[in-house]
Amino acid sequence: MNESRPGQEKGILLYPPDERIAPIERFQGQSIISARQFTLGGLQEVCNWAKELKGRLKNRWNAAERLRGYTLATLFYEPSTRTRFMFEVAMQILGGNTVTETDVRFSSRIKGESLEHTVRVVSGMTDGVVLRDPKAGSVLEVLPYAVKPLFNGGDGDREHPFQALKDYYTILDEFGQIDGRSFTLIGDLRFGRTVHSLAYFLSLHKGIRVNLGAPPDLQAPEEMIDVLKRGQVELQTYCRLGDLTDVGDIIYVTRVQSERIKDPTIKAKIEAVAPDFTITEAFTERFPHTKIMHPLPIGSGEIVKELDSHPNSIYFKQSDNGVLVTAALLLLVLKGGW
Ligand code: NCD
Repeated sequence: MNESRPGQEKGILLYPPDERIAPIERFQGQSIISARQFTLGGLQEVCNWAKELKGRLKNRWNAAERLRGYTLATLFYEPSTRTRFMFEVAMQILGGNTVTETDVRFSSRIKGESLEHTVRVVSGMTDGVVLRDPKAGSVLEVLPYAVKPLFNGGDGDREHPFQALKDYYTILDEFGQIDGRSFTLIGDLRFGRTVHSLAYFLSLHKGIRVNLGAPPDLQAPEEMIDVLKRGQVELQTYCRLGDLTDVGDIIYVTRVQSERIKDPTIKAKIEAVAPDFTITEAFTERFPHTKIMHPLPIGSGEIVKELDSHPNSIYFKQSDNGVLVTAALLLLVLKGGW
């Protein structure tokens, strides 16, 4: 890429090791910025709670009391439907409140206020703040100003730990265990932040195989490959989906993050190879046992509409699971449990 993006000057596309995002033992009172903060035990705890909540939330009256009196702020300075709603619905199901800001034009930031000050002020009035911001790394940067737990709702092209949590829960729910599974991650592995976070989670497991398939301009950042290699993941890299003879248990498709790619030449190159990365009905005939995942939204037809109701497509399940997983983590962080 020619244009310089925050973080990219130093070649950073994922969070580098940092003691503020080291693995955590107990979630209570903690900010959640990176997938790096989760151990296998932590992931297990969140997933167990999410499963438990699935049963308990059927009785909404019982669940409704749990976060009564708690307020969560959602500050979304990039477009969002799923992530903001999953936080807000999770809070509301548990009896808590939410306040939201989704347009910087109506925020004090338009008067020149720094993101640090906004986070300090909003965290001082509430019990937690979810922040989505276009600048890579900004959520960690403003962390010292948060006086309550801060949650990363997506920071530029770096990470999206909450999407990865619902992906992880969905895989577990679908297959019963993650050790030994094989994955193909395709699309925009460079700017797509959800795969960056998911790679950390997969790297914690044994016997994982991962194929990475992306056009040359959208290849996975080196740090993501390092994370997978450190986790002893068996890796293969492909430039065309058609070159794959075995895609494994799951194909995880991502949208080209065109909002982050300004260079028209690169955009045109990517558009030209889009058919090589499109999942069609022919794909499901070729790989009838492979489940199809996508963090959504589907941006430019990378999965054809006809597959929306195919039994192998589990992307709406991923989305449906978001409220449960988020509710579980909010309970653990804000209250320490049920
Ligand atoms: C993702 C994101 O915002 O990174 N969306 C989401 O939160 N589910 C994926 C995307 O926008 O492509």
